[in-house]
Amino acid sequence: MNSSQIRQTFLDFFQSKQHQVIPSASLVIKNDPTLMFTNAGMNQFKDLFLGNASIKYPRIADTQKCLRVSGKHNDLEEVGVDTYHHTLFEMLGNWSFGDYFKKEAIEWAWELLIGVYKIPQDRLYVTVFEGSKEDQLDFDEESYNHWAKYISKDRIINGSKKDNFWEMGDTGPCGPCSEIHIDIRDEVERKKTDGKSLVNKGHPQVIEIWNLVFMEFNRLANTSLQKLPAKHVDTGMGFERLCMVLQGKKSSYDTDIFQPVIQSIEKISAKKYGKEEKTDIAMRVISDHLRAISFSIADGQLPSNTGAGYVIRRILRRAIRYGYQSLALKEPFIFSLVPVLTDQMGKAFPELTKQKSLIEKVIKEEEASFFKTLETGIQRINAIINFKKLDSANKIIAGEHAFELYDTYGFPLDLTILIAREEGFRVDVDEFNKCMAEQKSRSRKATAVDTDDWIELKKTNAVEFVGYDTLEAKVQIVKYRKVKGKGKEHYQLVLDKTPFYAESGGQVGDSGWLDQIEIVTTKKENNLIVHYTDDELPADLTKIFNAKVDHQKRELTANNHSATHLLHAALRKVLGTHVEQRGSLVCADYLRFDFSHFAAVTNQKLREIEKIVNEKIWKNIKLDKRVMPLLEAKKLGAMALFGEKYGDEVRVVTIEPEFSVELCGGTHVEYTGEIGFFIINEETAVASGIRRIEARTAKGAFDYIHEQFIVPSEELKGIFKKTLKDVPAHVISLIEENSQLKKKVELLNKEKAKQIKIDLSQKIKSVNGINFIAEKIELDSAEAIKDLSFELRNQVQNLVMVIGAEVKGKPMISIIISDNLVREKNLNAGTIVRELAKEIQGGGGGQAFYATAGGNDSQGLLKALEKAKSFIS
Ligand code: SER
Repeated sequence: MNSSQIRQTFLDFFQSKQHQVIPSASLVIKNDPTLMFTNAGMNQFKDLFLGNASIKYPRIADTQKCLRVSGKHNDLEEVGVDTYHHTLFEMLGNWSFGDYFKKEAIEWAWELLIGVYKIPQDRLYVTVFEGSKEDQLDFDEESYNHWAKYISKDRIINGSKKDNFWEMGDTGPCGPCSEIHIDIRDEVERKKTDGKSLVNKGHPQVIEIWNLVFMEFNRLANTSLQKLPAKHVDTGMGFERLCMVLQGKKSSYDTDIFQPVIQSIEKISAKKYGKEEKTDIAMRVISDHLRAISFSIADGQLPSNTGAGYVIRRILRRAIRYGYQSLALKEPFIFSLVPVLTDQMGKAFPELTKQKSLIEKVIKEEEASFFKTLETGIQRINAIINFKKLDSANKIIAGEHAFELYDTYGFPLDLTILIAREEGFRVDVDEFNKCMAEQKSRSRKATAVDTDDWIELKKTNAVEFVGYDTLEAKVQIVKYRKVKGKGKEHYQLVLDKTPFYAESGGQVGDSGWLDQIEIVTTKKENNLIVHYTDDELPADLTKIFNAKVDHQKRELTANNHSATHLLHAALRKVLGTHVEQRGSLVCADYLRFDFSHFAAVTNQKLREIEKIVNEKIWKNIKLDKRVMPLLEAKKLGAMALFGEKYGDEVRVVTIEPEFSVELCGGTHVEYTGEIGFFIINEETAVASGIRRIEARTAKGAFDYIHEQFIVPSEELKGIFKKTLKDVPAHVISLIEENSQLKKKVELLNKEKAKQIKIDLSQKIKSVNGINFIAEKIELDSAEAIKDLSFELRNQVQNLVMVIGAEVKGKPMISIIISDNLVREKNLNAGTIVRELAKEIQGGGGGQAFYATAGGNDSQGLLKALEKAKSFIS
């Protein structure tokens, strides 16, 4: 079977057991502060397990895209080095929500593997949970007894909490699990060592393929276990591993999932897979990471400098580095593999095909910019080595520097060691490891739980949002929890119903009051609407509270949200229907809208867009908002958001059916007239092919016009004593006058420089065979100092000249060195100037024969010159 048939067989099998087959959820997690990416099939069902959402299908089957690159489940460093780990993988799952349990899960797993996939029984082992004293849990006898019906008892292995108790993260749904392992070694090997002794021992050919988890508990922040309202089944089978087994391969990279991409890498690099370990690892890394990056971009997560975006950027950089180091690929190439991937996976995951050109563009741009970074890194490491050479006793590169090279420039440690070794240097690896460990702990802390457990006051599993129709409601607190942290106490509250809009779809959360308690913001967490407060809570929490939304903030935000829809539609009208929303922020002060478009938007087009939006505002159109089935909304041509997950019922917001119809849960104005006025204040680039518009409406627009235009124009009128209309012509004449004056000053400076040059040449001293001079001069022009330096260098041999001066009120140092000294004495003006610049609190650089530095502390100039003198002598 090829991989598509294997996937389909799984889904068909469970469909025949009355499971509803559903598509994979997005890889990018939006409403769960404990996770960045989907790392297990069960993430999207967390609410169902916890009892926070109602169950629609008690049995489900799917294949879920998972990414294990951060937090509790992180395989990144193993990927490529071995032959069966992946960053992105598919997890085939069958699910029971309060329906069947251990008996059926085990029976069907066996039936599928043996009866359908025809895996020989004597290759399989299973594990069951042995129990845990710490958690006061018993041996899982029930699973053991079910397994004993199908497999000989000597193939059932007891496993500890580490291997046989599955947990999603530090907190959350969990339960004992039973794993199925397979031995794919050849006959000879199998005879030599009993497979049973290799289960869970990291052997690359005796591996886990399927994990059946019996969800029964919720791990609380205080580490204890709480029983879930019902018992569930969560199974996860590694799709790539299953394909490896069924296709008779020893590595998942040899299956038809990875081979097309690996073959393309062979072509690009003119190297063969399977010949040399170093090359093989690089090809595995690249073929794996290509998938992780492409799927993430398709699901809306672009590489960036923070959070989840940064994780993606680092994965891509890891792939580029391996290509650079092991395959000698020194130009962007990963983007060219995207079509091979979309051909292979596009059918099962249509989002890949849909976003193909975006994925290519983003990867190509990232690659190009990273190659630049690599070059800068090489310059940086050379600079470090050159500077150290001035002090020949110390031939060690600090771990901190090696870490900077790793973290900022993407240099793996072995590359730094290699370059250092060529220059006779060593790297402090222990210190490097220390820096690395500190960074890991920082990143783990970033996703660590920082709240206590919920304290439940009232049972309820659905929270009603009443804020579309009202900004005030009588409510009760159903649960609350304390946010950990020093000093002032912060709380989070969940209400039985709430008028507060929780941050989502780019719109900020509401603030307001719960009686006297101030609510600072509102956010969604899984299926809950969580209200944040920094206030003390009253003694009686069970009473009825009056919840009141800050209506001014809400109205201003609604103006901006409705204006965002108008802007979206106007953009498509003016620029074309390739414009798609890529992100947005809607708050009280302004709106920000990111969209796909491949060039800067001209001023003329921006004014056109503004005009369309304002005309719709002046028309005072009534907005139509209604809930309908997703299919019906699609028929209306409603625009859906890229990477967003929608239920079967959706809310549709329409501003004239032929102008703007969008799926949207946000809060909006009643009539467009309320928006008042719309003005774009900025248009910029965010990433390759993505532009950003920032705009203001209503009071925000008024304030903006006031600050940016009215106040400055009043000031200009005052300064120039002219009407505003005459100011531009006047400014032009001033600019002309100024440039003539500048020319005159330059001439005078040149005259002055001649005199200074004569003075300087008389002060030259011979030190260690060098004609040396270090002087502070009065010359207020960097250009003149440069000319003077070059002229003296032409006249005087063996010259090292260090000049200090104040240019436009700031200290400046310039160093010039005769070429023969650069060669023979290994002197480097760039290195020296950086060292001297410390005295003037500044920095600089340049070439080996000429370099300059600027700074902030003129007082330090004399000290810098002294330092130069003692260095030369
Ligand atoms: N949740 C389990 C896992 O991720 C089984 O799906 O391994």
